[in-house]
Amino acid sequence: MVKEGYDLLGSLNWSDHLPFLGWMDLQGVRKRCKSLVQKVNLFVGRIITEHRLKRVTGAPEGKAGDFVDVLLDLQDDEKLSDSDMIAVLWEMIFRGTDTVAILLEWTMARMVLHPEIQAKAQAEIDAVVGKTRPVSDEDVPHLSYLRSIVKESLRLHPPGPLLSWARLAIHDVHVGDLLIPAGTTAMVNMWAITHDAGIWPEPEKFRPERFVEQEVSITGSDLRLAPFGAGRRVCPGKGMALATVHLWLAQLLQGFDWLPSAGGVDLSERLKMSLEMEKPLVCRAVPRSRGV
Ligand code: HEM
Repeated sequence: MVKEGYDLLGSLNWSDHLPFLGWMDLQGVRKRCKSLVQKVNLFVGRIITEHRLKRVTGAPEGKAGDFVDVLLDLQDDEKLSDSDMIAVLWEMIFRGTDTVAILLEWTMARMVLHPEIQAKAQAEIDAVVGKTRPVSDEDVPHLSYLRSIVKESLRLHPPGPLLSWARLAIHDVHVGDLLIPAGTTAMVNMWAITHDAGIWPEPEKFRPERFVEQEVSITGSDLRLAPFGAGRRVCPGKGMALATVHLWLAQLLQGFDWLPSAGGVDLSERLKMSLEMEKPLVCRAVPRSRGV
């Protein structure tokens, strides 16, 4: 469903440009949208129903609620209608699945390509976590090199480099010497900024150490590296995205050594709605010896 959603968003629809043709739906875009909306309503609606049922039957002892429970707990004037709840949950699934998977894929590609960096991250995990228990969320704040790796991946391979960070000028505005006339949709090209040699020394080099040497915020306050956007429409899922990618990367590195497959690693990019790997990563995982 996520893939179909991205395909629909990214496809050229003649009806947008020639509205008088709209009713004919020549490419079948509207038909596909309708069919996707039905599937989404069913899928997300079922998640909500399951949560409601669980409340009636009683949640298992000690099991914390999740985001759906938080929405269901909203009181009176804050309460969401079912269709609003479906919209919020679908937005999270739609925006949060592809981006996180792509960031992790680029990061793992870098780990395979740079065994010395991979080994350094594993040494950090071993030192902080030890070899007798699995790494957990609580360890992540102590894994500063691992977090630098993710920052460097976001710099070289920002998953949403262009299209998702768009702004409509509601009046004439100057940005530096440039006039942006009212009605213009302006897009910030984060990829160009993060590859600019005037801002980042040796921009093409994957070097997480640059973030050990200097603290750079990636959450929108420093426009040299704002892979989650900035300002009022900044990505609301950035905390969750980083928490997920940090933990998964730590788990993958703690458990396995990652080696190239026979085909090697190809870093060619493909810009669709997100910045994907042209050739999906294929690699080998060799279990590391651990006490657990
Ligand atoms: C590595 C992962 C992610 C990246 C790189 C990313 C990037 C972005 C970017 C660049 C924007 C546009 C921000 C702007 O216009 O200033 C955005 C918006 C958004 N993101 Fe994310 N995102 C990620 C993960 C997530 C997750 C996990 C969720 C939800 C659980 C999420 C939900 C959203 C939503 C709902 C918006 C639209 C916000 C609005 O228009 O007000 N994203 N994201």
